[in-house]
Amino acid sequence: MSANILVLPGSLRLASHNRKLAAEATRMLALSDAVVTRLDLADYPLPLYDGDHEQDNGIPENAVLLAHRIAVQDGLLLVSPEYNHSIPAVLKNAIDWASRVRKVQGRPVQPFKGLVVGLASASPGRFGGARGLEALRLVMRALGAEVLTQQCSVADAANGFDENGRLSDDIARTSLESLVDKLLDTSRSLSRRG
Ligand code: FNR
Repeated sequence: MSANILVLPGSLRLASHNRKLAAEATRMLALSDAVVTRLDLADYPLPLYDGDHEQDNGIPENAVLLAHRIAVQDGLLLVSPEYNHSIPAVLKNAIDWASRVRKVQGRPVQPFKGLVVGLASASPGRFGGARGLEALRLVMRALGAEVLTQQCSVADAANGFDENGRLSDDIARTSLESLVDKLLDTSRSLSRRG
């Protein structure tokens, strides 16, 4: 059975290195039989999480849509920058809202439970955003996701892509290809759709 895979960049910036990395991963995934979707958090604007907002107004429609998009996947590739060694607020906020969604169209959902999650990052710095992925790993585990041990971090990302947005370094490309292969294999074998 082919796998459903979602690619989600954690940056809103138009020239984002992580969006470029997510685009590269999407191209690699598209070479397989997987059904691949790439989401942009800019298309799902959300207020900052506030329990009063949730109580008074319910969960925002965009959070429900996001949770639904995630719930129908076998695998998720998060491609995120590291901010102060941790998760960018925009991504954490989206995850927090999506984790509050318990029902979609009247049916119970746990968007992240059993989801196979791969982690990737890019940074102009020398650690490639790897420390932020550790924070993301904790959050995904807390939500019951099956987080792959393998991850991919692209250091010196300002010089890491050519003018077409393609990875210019063979080692980085091989690392991403290997992560994508692992995500595909594991998502097929642990598919949540039976
Ligand atoms: C950063 N950046 C950064 N980089 C890094 O390697 N480690 C870090 O801890 C941080 N911290 C950090 C905090 C904040 C608030 C900002 C705005 C930036 C730099 C970051 O990696 C760089 O801006 C990337 O280009 C952001 O990713 P995108 O938007 O290019 O995908």
